[in-house]
Amino acid sequence: MLIDTHAHLQDPAFNRDRKEILERAEAAGLEKIICIGYDYETSAEAVQLARQFPEVYAVVGVHPHDAKTLSTEVLAQLYDLARDPRVVAIGETGLDYYRNLSSPEEQRKAFKEQIKLAHELYKPLVIHDRDAHQEVLDIIKKEKAGKNEGIMHCYSGHLPLAVELMKEGFYISFAGPLTFKNAKKTQEVAARVALERILIETDCPYLTPEPFRGKRNEPALVVHTARKLAELRHKTEEEIAYITSQNARRIYRIKD
Ligand code: NI
Repeated sequence: MLIDTHAHLQDPAFNRDRKEILERAEAAGLEKIICIGYDYETSAEAVQLARQFPEVYAVVGVHPHDAKTLSTEVLAQLYDLARDPRVVAIGETGLDYYRNLSSPEEQRKAFKEQIKLAHELYKPLVIHDRDAHQEVLDIIKKEKAGKNEGIMHCYSGHLPLAVELMKEGFYISFAGPLTFKNAKKTQEVAARVALERILIETDCPYLTPEPFRGKRNEPALVVHTARKLAELRHKTEEEIAYITSQNARRIYRIKD
């Protein structure tokens, strides 16, 4: 059984066939799907889906792209949403200096506020880091962001950084790019980080793994990332499925 630890199931790309997508996920051996919000609306939708489908759990928060939308009011609304028992973490938050759709200051402010929110609610964090490795690490250390642990989603850094992050209480999650031919650096990291800290995810509808790169992504396709990881770790696919699912249950505190 597999767990997709990061999916944007509420994305409009899935509006026409969300039910079929969940059926295909089940047929592909997925037992759980963690649906991640990126602003208030999509966080509320994630909670809705988690109430509707027993295999779905929600993560609520504001993405660095949308950091400018995190008003005091939205923060209070996230707090209310996060009290639902189906909400298993806060995020995705972090820094994205590749696209800078919100200013760096807005991103840092929203990141720190969501770290505080996670601490108040005793929940782990889901962190997005693009072209901001050092600053993300500095904020994590300074704010003790890993107090209730957390996940570095779609990891793209190098091994020494992953080691630092694990020391801070973070798990390292790999998405579709792990299967890309030009992903040697990420594959090297995946081959070497502690097995008990590895997760897999789709980040669907984005980042579709090979051999479907370029098409819409969906949770069922996490099997391709699992397969690549099995190859890199010299394990069977079953072993990798078991290990990463156990890790996902531990970090998200999923009991059933
Ligand atoms: Ni995402």
